[in-house]
Amino acid sequence: MPFTYRENRLFCGERDLLDLARSVSGPIYVYSVQDILERARRLRSAFGRVPHAIHYAMKANGNAEILRRLAREGLGADTVSAGEIEDALAAGFAPNSIVFSGVGKTRHEIEFAVRLGIKQINIESPQELERVAQVAMHLEKPIDVAFRMNPDVNPQTHPYITTGFRENKFGMDESFLPELLRILQRDGARVRLRGLTLHIGSQLTELASLEEAITKTLPVFHDLRGRGFPLDRFDIGGGLGIHYGSDDTSAEFQLMSEYGQLVHRLLGATLPTSGRMNDGSLGCEIMCEPGRMLVARSGLLIGQVQYIKSTPQKTFVILDTGMHHLLRPALYQAQHRVLPLETRVDSITKPYDIVGPICESSDVLAKNVVLPEIRQGDYVAIADAGAYGYSMASFYNRHALPTEIVLD
Ligand code: LLP
Repeated sequence: MPFTYRENRLFCGERDLLDLARSVSGPIYVYSVQDILERARRLRSAFGRVPHAIHYAMKANGNAEILRRLAREGLGADTVSAGEIEDALAAGFAPNSIVFSGVGKTRHEIEFAVRLGIKQINIESPQELERVAQVAMHLEKPIDVAFRMNPDVNPQTHPYITTGFRENKFGMDESFLPELLRILQRDGARVRLRGLTLHIGSQLTELASLEEAITKTLPVFHDLRGRGFPLDRFDIGGGLGIHYGSDDTSAEFQLMSEYGQLVHRLLGATLPTSGRMNDGSLGCEIMCEPGRMLVARSGLLIGQVQYIKSTPQKTFVILDTGMHHLLRPALYQAQHRVLPLETRVDSITKPYDIVGPICESSDVLAKNVVLPEIRQGDYVAIADAGAYGYSMASFYNRHALPTEIVLD
């Protein structure tokens, strides 16, 4: 873990976070970039010799320095808006390493992507494919696409973050194929079908549903190849989860290596060559779009205690940060650990509700957490906030956004 206690103070490497927090005014997000890079390397090695491409899902954390480092590390980017594509380019991702996902791409965004010649647009509906075809014709520029399949699996995760279930708006089942193929028959020279893509949900802590999704999608892949489409990419999306309740990373590292084995078992051998890959090996490129697994553990949100307020039922710790900076607890009932930057060793522990300044009762960052005594003016960190923290933050109640600090 990048953040550890030395004596009673929380550190990131050599950096005393209490000193850091005192030197900045207002709440801060602190990230350890080394932790992110180590995870990217670990994931890469989990794939072993399977030809693969890791496209970092920028929506998890779009910090410019983190993007720069991941681009330099050789990852691609998974983007969902023209804004993210712009940020990816500014960070040094080459256009041909950028994938464009999402159900609601506007014509303007598609034009931007086609003009740039990005690696792939992930198509979510026949109307979108039609629009991409029109843009490619208008600009006289070909574009590579993949069809996002909805395999109708129900991953055991929070209902707001399942995406591959038939009730979700994402992806397409096989009944869409005739219409998609009609468009390709007309425009196949400009809109080149390169592969299939999946993303069944986020915060998966086991892989059975991903296995089911891949297994259900493979026949479609082979069917399309049989029809003469030279598919050479299979994108399995993102979704790997972490264990928010604990600082023990062994289970998630184990998950990463099982992920590599799953890919090897299901896709490594069964996708025969359809051409020579850029790296000289033969076969189909396996793509993935991880977000959380790379960045969640690397970030803390640090706030300062403004007031302690006790009622007969509870003791509230009221911070200068809250749901406007970290929405996950309010939106998904996510449970993040709370780490005081300095712990009072001999104090009596007691339960606290850690809340923010926002005028909503859902503005609770952590409920009923047992901590050593907390006093006005103390600093506390909300752990594992590197993914979907700052990227989902808002100006609600007209507060400022936190400062982001990347430690190396
Ligand atoms: N690819 C696609 C098409 C996605 O929609 C997502 C996430 C990812 C990749 C990356 O998924 P990851 O590896 O991070 O699980 N705000 C929620 C998570 C929403 C995920 C949305 N899509 C949260 O805080 O838990």
